[in-house]
Amino acid sequence: MKHILITGAGGQIGSWLVPRLRELYGEANVVATDLRDLGTEVTEAGPFEILDATDANALAQCVIRHRVDTVYHLAALLSATGEQNPKLAWEVNMGSLEAVLEVAREQRCAVFTPSSIGAFGPDTPKNPTPQDTIMRPATMYGITKVAGELLCDYYHARYGVDTRGLRFPGLISYGAPPGGGTTDWAVDIFYKAVSEGRYTCFLRSDSQLDMMYMPDAIDALVGIMEANPDKLVHRNAFNVTAMQLTPEGLADEIRKHIPDFRIDYDVDPVRQAIADSWPDRIDDSAAREEWGWGPNFDGATMAADMLEHLTNTD
Ligand code: NAD
Ligand code: SER
Repeated sequence: MKHILITGAGGQIGSWLVPRLRELYGEANVVATDLRDLGTEVTEAGPFEILDATDANALAQCVIRHRVDTVYHLAALLSATGEQNPKLAWEVNMGSLEAVLEVAREQRCAVFTPSSIGAFGPDTPKNPTPQDTIMRPATMYGITKVAGELLCDYYHARYGVDTRGLRFPGLISYGAPPGGGTTDWAVDIFYKAVSEGRYTCFLRSDSQLDMMYMPDAIDALVGIMEANPDKLVHRNAFNVTAMQLTPEGLADEIRKHIPDFRIDYDVDPVRQAIADSWPDRIDDSAAREEWGWGPNFDGATMAADMLEHLTNTD
């Protein structure tokens, strides 16, 4: 039986991953941790600790105390927040990853670390973006993601740590709100469509980005960690995607359910520049070939499911 620790467990991904891993591996075997206190749904259903993932000593104590053998490392600052405070983004994203990899080396833990489409930059081929290509991101977030992919590769090659990772696209979900990314519009649009029937988008109408519905992202996380290691060539940097969305295209999809829905635009130059530097469509054939990745949701089924959940809980 696995003994799992999740950092950054209260975020957009963690709020879905904690219950899924507790269901798969047993509630007592999944330790949720975050910088801040989380709701009773997380803290009463299994072990929970307040933990700053950049605090290497506290992290090591937690791993030893709970006899952890697998770490899902989600704590990070996202792209837009990272551009507001690049120094902090470097310290949190790289400091926490270094702490996780060191404790994993010492305690023989496996490690999952998410990378991102943010690891690509303006010089990268945009459509399709190959698995192995130019990686020169223009944001501090992207720089930490490329450095993180390389550091995870290094800990595997040099120390034999079982590191694995995915380059996630923008993730769409209900529940915990997104944490300050450039793709947050694709979540916000649903909340505003249901509550106000209109949405003002901070990206241009034709800005195309890769996206994925959270149930597929959680399947991908479980899939890569359960994959046969002998088959993994791109261990820490698999492109994965499910759909390509523009604000005008997603608005059309929402109008199939809310015909009067209106979208307008008030473009934020910082987030627009970030989006313009990212791919239009990544090629995820390596993930499909090496460990059988494939999404269940496309734009239409995702939008229908999002609206059903938000309408029913509203
Ligand atoms: P999020 O911002 O929603 O959540 C991050 C969590 O980390 C928060 O609960 C926060 O309290 C916690 N945290 C921040 N600093 C911490 C620290 N020092 N110690 C412990 N916890 C800390 O982020 P998310 O969307 O859940 O993303 C998780 C990971 O997945 C990140 O590495 C992110 O880059 C990556 N990712 C996310 C997306 C997406 O669209 N959500 C896409 C690609 C990659
Ligand atoms: N959704 C994330 C962001 O926009 C992508 O890594 O920052």
